[in-house]
Amino acid sequence: MSHESKLEELRSLREQARLGGGEDRIEIQHERGRLTARERLDLLLDKGSFREMDIFVTHRTHDFGLEDRKYLSDSVVTGWGTVEGRLTYVFSQDFTVFGGSLGEVHAEKIVKIMEMAIKNGAPLIGLNDSGGARIQEGVVALGGYADIFLRNTMASGVIPQISAIMGPTAGGAVYSPALTDFIFMVRKSSYMFVTGPDVVRSVTHEDVDFEELGGADVHAGTSGVAHYTSESEADCLYMIRVLLSYLPQNNMEDPPLVPSGDDRLRTDAALDAIVPDDATKPYDIRDVIHLVVDDGAFLEIHESFAQNIVVGFARLGGHSVGIVANQPAVLAGVLDINASLKAARFVRFCDAFNIPLVTLVDVPGFLPGTAQEHGGIIRSGAKLLYAYCEATVPKITVITRKAYGGAYCVMNSKHIRSDLNLAWPTAEIAVMGPEGAVSIIFRKELAEAKDPDKYKAKLVDEYRAKFAHPYVSASRGYIDDVIEPRFTRPRLINALEMLANKRDINPAKKHGNIPL
Ligand code: HXC
Repeated sequence: MSHESKLEELRSLREQARLGGGEDRIEIQHERGRLTARERLDLLLDKGSFREMDIFVTHRTHDFGLEDRKYLSDSVVTGWGTVEGRLTYVFSQDFTVFGGSLGEVHAEKIVKIMEMAIKNGAPLIGLNDSGGARIQEGVVALGGYADIFLRNTMASGVIPQISAIMGPTAGGAVYSPALTDFIFMVRKSSYMFVTGPDVVRSVTHEDVDFEELGGADVHAGTSGVAHYTSESEADCLYMIRVLLSYLPQNNMEDPPLVPSGDDRLRTDAALDAIVPDDATKPYDIRDVIHLVVDDGAFLEIHESFAQNIVVGFARLGGHSVGIVANQPAVLAGVLDINASLKAARFVRFCDAFNIPLVTLVDVPGFLPGTAQEHGGIIRSGAKLLYAYCEATVPKITVITRKAYGGAYCVMNSKHIRSDLNLAWPTAEIAVMGPEGAVSIIFRKELAEAKDPDKYKAKLVDEYRAKFAHPYVSASRGYIDDVIEPRFTRPRLINALEMLANKRDINPAKKHGNIPL
């Protein structure tokens, strides 16, 4: 064989691999409005940066006539490339080959790339589009999943792991994405469930379709499984690039500094009037965030889930920060089970990856009621408390209005190792709101009063004058400073830089026992 024909052979094998399950299946994928595994990687990674490995891998199964149906690369494309010039490992399941199903070699390829990502300290992005375990391979496929779950767990807190769901993800296959840090889904095109509509119908007699059972909107708004939803695959892949820009490559690095033209000393008078005079009136905490952060750019995570708390990434003076903010515009910003879970997971992610936390507080307390108590608000609220207590990254708090009761303690109070606690003059820090407080301490007097309403109004005014401001807390040093809201941005940037070399450690232990 001449050199030339050897090269020809190599080129033709590569071309064959590139076609996956063949042109007909690629066409079907396109007709469904979906891209192929390699097209997706082209959009995710910097142009021309993708380096594929294990192109020549094929399955080893002989049963069910599979020995005659082999495809180069099998049903997953793996390798590495760059995103904005930064190394990123990837796998992308190829639905055109056996429906992207996962058999022995498919799993081996993913495990190989995961181990490279862990060893070399770079993020791992998985693009999922698969019919699940390759049925013809039986238990070997199950073992392959478990091999991946183990690596997901070992990689957790070491490298960022991001999953995009771009087609079906069913059965136990959902647990690999679920073990990763962020799940992105595409509307009307991707779904995740442990058991499909047919099994649901036979077991519970519920009639439900794919979308209602496990579509993007359900997981973004109801279950909280998905962190971000997109209208299209292209948008989904672009948003993964945006998310990566806020993150370090691994837990030993700091996030990249991305300077912007936004003035570090910029003040904004609009902030002074953003909290309404009437303490019961809502405002949108996202307006505060947008006015404070670099260029108003905020990547909100879990936007449709537990909207009474807002979490996401932004930059201040070019430094990445994780923002956790009570949302007075939804349920008055109360903490409930889902809000606690959402924020706790976010706080732990930021702490694992050296991303400072900025907490904006306007919280009336925990949501009362049997649904919450029986649902375990004690357990869930404790998760958020635990997450804040154990976090050692720079932690800064700004109390904009209410900080009542246990929620005051939980929302990164000074007492749980917050580094700097600022309050706006509109802050009210107390055991509970004036109305509730007066009803309890003066129950007897109110019952005996000639005009209970008038008397109560007077007592509420007195209580408010005594406690509904930040100065009692500031006099004890629980609040480090009371600032004019317009100075929030420069004060936060200054604080982040003051805390840049912060070192704090937790006692040596195997691991803590977060109240799961
Ligand atoms: C082998 C599979 C497959 C699988 C799909 N294919 N899923 N082959 N194992 N799990 C093949 C099909 O035979 C078909 O091959 C091709 O992929 C495309 O599939 P279609 O059915 O034509 O596509 P579509 O109509 O879009 O339906 C997609 C689907 C459906 C909804 C995913 O294929 C499906 O229900 N598949 C089975 C899903 C499932 O039950 N998986 C096991 C889950 S249990 P040809 O050659 O005909 O084109 C599980 C356990 C994991 O995963 C446990 C981990 C711990």
